[in-house]
Amino acid sequence: MTKTAVITGATSGIGAAYAKRLAADGYDLILTGRRQEIIQKLADELADKHKIKVKVLIVELSDDNDIQKLIDTVTSTDDMEVLINNAGFDPDEKHFMGMEFRDVERMIKVHQIVPVRLAYAVVPKMEKRRKGTIINVSSAGAFLPSPNIVIYGATKSFLKMFSESLYMDLREKGIKVQVLCPGLTRTDFHRGLPEERYQKISSDFHWMTADQVVDYSLKCLKKNNQPICIPGMRNRLYSALIPVLPKAIYYRIALKKAGA
Ligand SMILES: NC(=O)c1ccc[n+]([C@@H]2O[C@H](COP(=O)([O-])OP(=O)(O)OC[C@H]3O[C@@H](n4cnc5c(N)ncnc54)[C@H](OP(=O)(O)O)[C@@H]3O)[C@@H](O)[C@H]2O)c1
Repeated sequence: MTKTAVITGATSGIGAAYAKRLAADGYDLILTGRRQEIIQKLADELADKHKIKVKVLIVELSDDNDIQKLIDTVTSTDDMEVLINNAGFDPDEKHFMGMEFRDVERMIKVHQIVPVRLAYAVVPKMEKRRKGTIINVSSAGAFLPSPNIVIYGATKSFLKMFSESLYMDLREKGIKVQVLCPGLTRTDFHRGLPEERYQKISSDFHWMTADQVVDYSLKCLKKNNQPICIPGMRNRLYSALIPVLPKAIYYRIALKKAGA
């Protein structure tokens, strides 16, 4: 029986690592990205190596026509078994008024509207087969309110809440839901940052690779099917401690870390 996985943002990093793993498991793939040459090369390699079908959609996920193109492709694919809502970007957001409002809207579309629309499109197909997996890639930042990531953190926190609720809603229907919350991961994600800001982040030694993050995500799915999956011991520790810290203490620490 054929099975298809759709992965948004599969050009590089975490999305590309999922694509490699699912291709090796025999899934046909629908991959989205914008850097055409890079994603097409990955698609050709995976199709050739694993004898699977790989469709590439070059889509800007804040553009309504492109979003519709993706939704149409997904709804016309009957054997849809895995959805990975992974596409996302780093806004180099220093404070709330530091972003143009059109970029705020773009981020809300890419990080919130698109994942919800895609889930809405695939769930009926998964329900019919009584089988499916939805992974929403959030961030460890979803647990860490910060004056430096007002919009990014809020959109990722939405994904966490959405996923946990969806997990409960769909658990009797054979559909697994995971929210993956990675910490710092070496990918192309930070490539747009000014050198000075990148150096500041880079000096942090708790980085993971995209392969490690995806390995952990797939392990979480197999092991316990709990919705929240946090790769990395330090990230798990923070996410457990922060909700129980008195707020006033947390805000002081977060402001200090942000250099505010
Ligand atoms: N890297 C980290 O430290 C880190 C930490 C926590 C969470 N995350 C999350 O992990 C996810 C994957 O990021 P990554 O680290 O693997 O970064 P990445 O290597 O930069 O990959 C991001 C992917 O998203 C696509 N994308 C970004 N904005 C898009 C848009 N407006 N329209 C369409 N596609 C878009 C990119 O497409 P093109 O490159 O082809 O344009 C690329 O395929 C993101 O949701 C990110 O928020 C990353």
